[in-house]
Amino acid sequence: MDMFVIRGGTPLCGSVAVSGAKNAALPIMSAALAIDGPSRLLNVPDLADVRTLTSLLGTLGVQCRHEPDGALELRPSEASSCVADYELVRRMRAGVCVLGPLLARYGYACVSLPGGCNIGHRPIDLHLKGLRALGARIRVERGYVIAESERLIGTDIYLGGPFGSTVTGTCNVLSAAVLAEGVTNIEAAACEPEVVDLGRFLISAGARITGLGTPQIRIEGVPRLTGCKHTVIPDRIEAATLLIAGAITRGRISLTGADPSHLTAVLEVLREIGVGIRVDGTTIHADGVLPLRAVECVALPYPAVPTDMQAQLTALLATAEGISLVTDKVFPDRFMHISELARMGARVRREGASAIVGGPTRLSGASVMASDLRASAALVLAALAAEGPSVVRRIYHLDRGYERFEAKLRSLGADVQRVEDSPANVPPELMEVASPPSEPAMPGPHWSGAATRRLTPQG
Ligand code: UD1
Repeated sequence: MDMFVIRGGTPLCGSVAVSGAKNAALPIMSAALAIDGPSRLLNVPDLADVRTLTSLLGTLGVQCRHEPDGALELRPSEASSCVADYELVRRMRAGVCVLGPLLARYGYACVSLPGGCNIGHRPIDLHLKGLRALGARIRVERGYVIAESERLIGTDIYLGGPFGSTVTGTCNVLSAAVLAEGVTNIEAAACEPEVVDLGRFLISAGARITGLGTPQIRIEGVPRLTGCKHTVIPDRIEAATLLIAGAITRGRISLTGADPSHLTAVLEVLREIGVGIRVDGTTIHADGVLPLRAVECVALPYPAVPTDMQAQLTALLATAEGISLVTDKVFPDRFMHISELARMGARVRREGASAIVGGPTRLSGASVMASDLRASAALVLAALAAEGPSVVRRIYHLDRGYERFEAKLRSLGADVQRVEDSPANVPPELMEVASPPSEPAMPGPHWSGAATRRLTPQG
């Protein structure tokens, strides 16, 4: 297993390019199951999740070939199997995206339930509700969803849930409804750019879809879809994470190949924090040299601040002046990162679906453990800003969603090494703590890392 050794404290400077969006590429690749003939995707990131889905699609009869320039050839044949195995789906929740396309194309799908997740409970009841509305008979047996239907029939489907709509659920229903008989109206559809990108791909393949990017999507079913060429949108979460890398190290970076229209809420919050943001076409400049201040921000479905940026913003706010409040209304239990940030000196306390963050803190390097994809990005960001070396363990989480992350950070001047996780590779400074670190001074009770752990159910 690999870990990162990061020597923080260097302001990042320079220019870096954004990769293609993981969360767009995965449902688009899955939709190839419903398409006749080969498709070619451009700007597909080379990530662990993409490789896992490539293996899964291979077992389902779609051969995928990733070329070095980020192009991905998808060649569907008659499915050799309609069973998406637990061994692959458990590694990556987006494996559930094959359910809708398999059902639409073959009338049968047997897909493992994705299982537990470190960011909280992640049911798929809305996916199943949508597919049932289209006429599928669905049962859950031995950890698998088994869906069957001779013919899907278009209908009105409401996809709103207690935490808003569902992104992959909308993708599943959309990918099935394009081949259903008649018209489907999805109400309370997810508006995320990744759903729009899937819709555009399906339109290029011959689907008839209107209302993408709004909560009402209308789909007129067609008898078949044919292979096409599509360029995946830039990754808005990677883009925002890199902008924060510039800001948290008090550096100045330029991000190229971004789509600023997908980042409106995040850029607004960064401006409010005091980061100098300038947009120039598809390039975004971030200047973190100015004093940074506390804010209140709430993660909500698009177009608001994404839940996938909550952890990274929390890390940045630990270094800003004042007391911030970061609330997550999409995944209210997504706070595994705060006890690890506390190990680096961050003054952060969980209250229900919120993190209260006191700053400014001069973070100090420590050994920390990544718990999930975005939490690992937050820990890397904190380590880049910290004084002294840090070790970030379990970076396989990071590899699921950030393409060549350490190479990109190094190109901006960061000191990040990927090494094998072994005691021999831990910097000596982290092995010899001379004296116990003193408690940070904060108003109110429970502000230490220990208290944070006590207050966090997952801890
Ligand atoms: C996708 C993203 C993930 C992001 C999330 C929210 C991919 C591969 N992953 O995940 O990075 O954090 O959107 O933007 O695109 N819910 C239900 N019932 C359901 C489905 C979801 O109650 O059937 C709830 C979830 O528990 C959560 C909320 O709805 O509270 C949003 O989840 P959802 O949009 O489905 O997340 P994913 O599509 O799994």
